Amino acid sequence: MFGSTFLVLWMFVLSIDQTDASTATGFGTEWGYTQKDGPNSKDPNWPELCHSGKHQSPINIDPSSVVKNESFSSLVFTGYNHPGPVTITNNGHSVTATGFDKWGSGSLTPYITGGGLYGKYNLINFHLHWGEDNTLGSEHQLNFVPFPLEAHFVHQRADLNATQSLLVPDGLAVVAVWFILDNRNPAPLKQLDDAYESIDPFNTTVTLNVTLSDMIPANTAAFYRYSGSLTTPGCNEALVWSIMNHTMTVANYQLKQLRQHNTELNHKLKHNYRNLQELNGRVVLRNG
Ligand SMILES: *[C@@H]1O[C@H](CO)[C@@H](O)[C@H](O)[C@H]1NC(C)=O
Ligand SMILES: *[C@@H]1O[C@H](CO)[C@@H](O)[C@H](O)[C@H]1NC(C)=O
Ligand SMILES: *[C@@H]1O[C@H](CO)[C@@H](O)[C@H](O)[C@H]1NC(C)=O
Ligand SMILES: *[C@@H]1O[C@H](CO)[C@@H](O)[C@H](O)[C@H]1NC(C)=O
Ligand SMILES: *[C@@H]1O[C@H](CO)[C@@H](O)[C@H](O)[C@H]1NC(C)=O
Ligand SMILES: [Zn+2]
Repeated sequence: MFGSTFLVLWMFVLSIDQTDASTATGFGTEWGYTQKDGPNSKDPNWPELCHSGKHQSPINIDPSSVVKNESFSSLVFTGYNHPGPVTITNNGHSVTATGFDKWGSGSLTPYITGGGLYGKYNLINFHLHWGEDNTLGSEHQLNFVPFPLEAHFVHQRADLNATQSLLVPDGLAVVAVWFILDNRNPAPLKQLDDAYESIDPFNTTVTLNVTLSDMIPANTAAFYRYSGSLTTPGCNEALVWSIMNHTMTVANYQLKQLRQHNTELNHKLKHNYRNLQELNGRVVLRNG
């Protein structure tokens, strides 16, 4: 019994590893955000690195101790300003959009360059982090104040494959966008309003067209930069973070819609943010 369960689990892990090793959300619902299976639990699905790593994410951003880097250029988003089809899935940990590799070979797959990054990084997914009420939800905080929502646009270094990208400090470049509450302006995420067809994980996936630039601040010059990790298992310290200084907006009905998602049958994913991690001497840079 144990043997076959183990085998099935192992095969699951293997198949995930090959297809989606670096989605930064993980797949399967075997870990979560509760006391029992969350980031601070003894749940082995959060490996040792999550507890002992010295370059972990998220962090608090203290603007007064951030160092300005004069030699950064703006982040350049290519392929972000036209609609393209994505697959939206509730993976039990977040609502995740994938399928950017199918937007076309080469230039049509959205990617980022500039901003002091090492070359070109292709978009592999975006997903959202939210909280049980509007006073929290974001992973990164500004002066120890959370935002109600944070979006992560996960990019993989173009010269590396998924496995390799998790093994070097700059294998993944994640753009984080903070959202403030504004009931008059649901526009940035409105294109996802029809995406949440089923609340159960993996039950349905919805395909729809999204324009990525609608969800990203127009000012791509002002951002915070630091080296960190996945905020989900296995907490790999392979991330270059760019946290946009300018915020986007989300309406209350959209946050309520997100909180309806289940981690499993009848268990609401009321929040899916990891708690703040120590800086351990890291310097946070800013551009602009
Ligand atoms: C500032 O940015 C430049 C260009 O990306 C980089 O070479 C340099 O190391 C950065 N400075 C610091 C203090 O990180
Ligand atoms: C990734 O690249 C490495 C080095 O070229 C190779 O050994 C490995 O098999 C590749 N992995 C996958 C999943 O393609
Ligand atoms: C999935 O959706 C269907 C109908 O949309 C529903 O009957 C079912 O209970 C849902 N959950 C699971 C886990 O299949
Ligand atoms: C996305 O837009 C294209 C081009 O306008 C269209 O052909 C396609 O049917 C749309 N896909 C979806 C899922 O709406
Ligand atoms: C960063 O955002 C704050 C708050 O919106 C704004 O006051 C400041 O001017 C922005 N900084 C830059 C460099 O854009
Ligand atoms: Zn994330």
